[in-house]
This record gives sequence, structure tokens and C-alpha cells, in this order.
Amino acid sequence: MSTMRTLGEFVVENQHHFPHASGELSSLLGSIKLAAKIVNREINKAGLVDITGAVGAENIQGEEQQKLDLYANDKFKAALEARDQVCGVASEEEDEAVAFNKDLNKNAKYVVLMDPLDGSSNIDVNVSVGTIFSIYRRVSPIGSAPTQEDFLQPGHKQVAAGYIIYGSSTMLVYTTGNGVHGFTYDPSLGVFCLSHESMMIPKLGTIYSINEGNYIRFPTGIKKYIKYCQENVPEEHRPYTSRYIGSLVADFHRNLLKGGIYLYPSTESHPNGKLRLLYECNPIAFLMEQAGGKASDGKNRILDLKPTELHQRVPFVVGSPAMVDKVESFLEQYPE
Ligand code: AHG
Ligand code: MN
Ligand code: MN
Repeated sequence: MSTMRTLGEFVVENQHHFPHASGELSSLLGSIKLAAKIVNREINKAGLVDITGAVGAENIQGEEQQKLDLYANDKFKAALEARDQVCGVASEEEDEAVAFNKDLNKNAKYVVLMDPLDGSSNIDVNVSVGTIFSIYRRVSPIGSAPTQEDFLQPGHKQVAAGYIIYGSSTMLVYTTGNGVHGFTYDPSLGVFCLSHESMMIPKLGTIYSINEGNYIRFPTGIKKYIKYCQENVPEEHRPYTSRYIGSLVADFHRNLLKGGIYLYPSTESHPNGKLRLLYECNPIAFLMEQAGGKASDGKNRILDLKPTELHQRVPFVVGSPAMVDKVESFLEQYPE
């Protein structure tokens, strides 16, 4: 492990992997890095200053917005608009996609989709939260306002994706399609240092992560899979361990390092599950595939889905490849 290389240096060294875009990715990731530091600083003060709790409003998906949801949304938007790389953002906390000022961003070739604060119900109780981002090249002409088409591209068109986890330490993990690399924040230096180069998930893990409170509402195939994890896994693995934080980023990060599977399936009342295709599932799926894992809606590869609306939800199964295959086989065996 080398902690002597910073995120900035690493991105510059590897920018030849980013097609036709020398310098652009480092500038764009520079915006994300700066906003992450600002949000990290604020999150670290939670409990001391009046930044936790709900604002008393709901987002377009009917979820209660927390003060830090809006704070993080504003900081990431502002940092992305300040450089001439991004023409607009779509965010879990915005009703519609936001177009940046065309005069200030006249050369911008990218759109960013984000979940500015993931797991926000965990802020008040000092549990890890995160930020997820997803970057696409725009398909509309440079210099014009971004269109819906720019934001509704399938996940396999992502040019970069990543997350920040504000945990026991703060980390930024990203991919540009050439592996997954993790950087740990050193607050005394104010820099992200390379700590996890070329992360790979074990082919088979022993952790399953799912909100089992919803058990009776799950499809039969998912119920059978949970029972398989508890009762029928091969002797040498028994028993699988259940771990569920309630912050996708934190659950995903643990499973990526240790091997495991995360599931947010459909339920009777929520046939498309809870997680958002554009802000959560696509970037996490891109990272997982780059780390040797799989991401599925139970049947189809997440990155092949063609989005139809910004806040679209999708059932989500992501993790060690052998475990995702197993879930898919249960869902095939018990369709309904
Ligand atoms: P967000 O805070 O961005 O709305 O995301 C919350 C998501 C995800 O992070 C987490 O895995 C899931 O919701 C937890 O949902 P349940 O409480 O229904 O298990
Ligand atoms: Mn989220
Ligand atoms: Mn969120």
C-alpha cells in the first residue's frame, strides 16, 4: 500500500485512460474532491452545530429532506458549476435536471448525476453516510442547454463513477473503466491519498445485506435465497453473516472489501424497490463490474437498462459474482 500518492496525482497519471479528455477528468474530479472535503467537514461537526435533522420538506420522491441532504446538494452543484466541464446535474434532491449557466460553461462536455447524501437518515445517529456520483458525456451539442437525453443514458455509457464514504475515515473511490481505486482522506494534510489500488471483490463472500424487516413482502425467489443463506450454504461457509447499515454506500463498501451481496428487491407495495437507477444503481453497478462483481435487477444487467425517467427506481442486487448468479437462479426458479 502506498499512501504517498495523492488523488490529484493519480488522476493525472492515469488520464490517458479517459478517452479524448486529457485534463478534463482531473478538473471534474477536482470539483468533486473539493465538495467532498467541504461536506466532510460539515458532517464531522454533526451534533455540535445545528446541521442535523429534517428541514420539514420532502423531495419529489416523497422522502423527508435532511438539512445535510440540501447542504451537500448545494456544495456539489456549486463546485461542479465553478469549472467549465459540466453543463448540468441531475440530483436525487432536485425535481428536475439543473442546467448550468451556458455562458460560464460553454465548453462543458459532461453531465453529472448524483445522490449528494446517501443514507441521510443515519446522520443523526453518527453512522456512515456517503455521496454517489455518475458522469456521462453529453449527447447534445456543446454550448447548448443539456437535454433529457443527456441524463437518460444507459449505465454502460458512464465515463466515470464513484462515491465518497464519510465513515470512520473518509474515502473517495472511483472508476473510469480501468479498475476501481480508493483514496483515504488525511484531514491533517487536506488530501486524499491512494490507499486501495485496483480493488477487486472476492468471487464468493459470506455477507448478505438486506432489510429483512420487509421479508414477508419479498418475492418468493428472494425469500428462498435468504433461507439458503441461513440454512443451506455449503458447510465450509456456514453460516453467512447478515450485515445491514441502511446506507447503500457503507453496505456496498464493506461488501466490496470483504465479499458479499447487497439486495434491495421489489416488495408488494414497491414493485421497483427503493433505490434510484440513475443516482445509486448505475454508478454502484459500474464500480462493481470494474471490481469483478455483478449488478442486476434480478434478471437483467443494470448497466444495460434504458432509463425512462430521472427518478426511476429499480430492484437491485449487487456483489460477488457467484452470489448474484445464485440470486438470479432463485428468481428464475420462483418467478412471480
Ligand atoms: P438516501 O438516504 O439517499 O435516500 O438513500 C437511502 C437508501 C440507501 O442508502 C439504503 O441502502 C436504503 O435507502 C435503506 O432503505 P431501508 O431503510 O428501506 O432499508
Ligand atoms: Mn441514497
Ligand atoms: Mn440521498
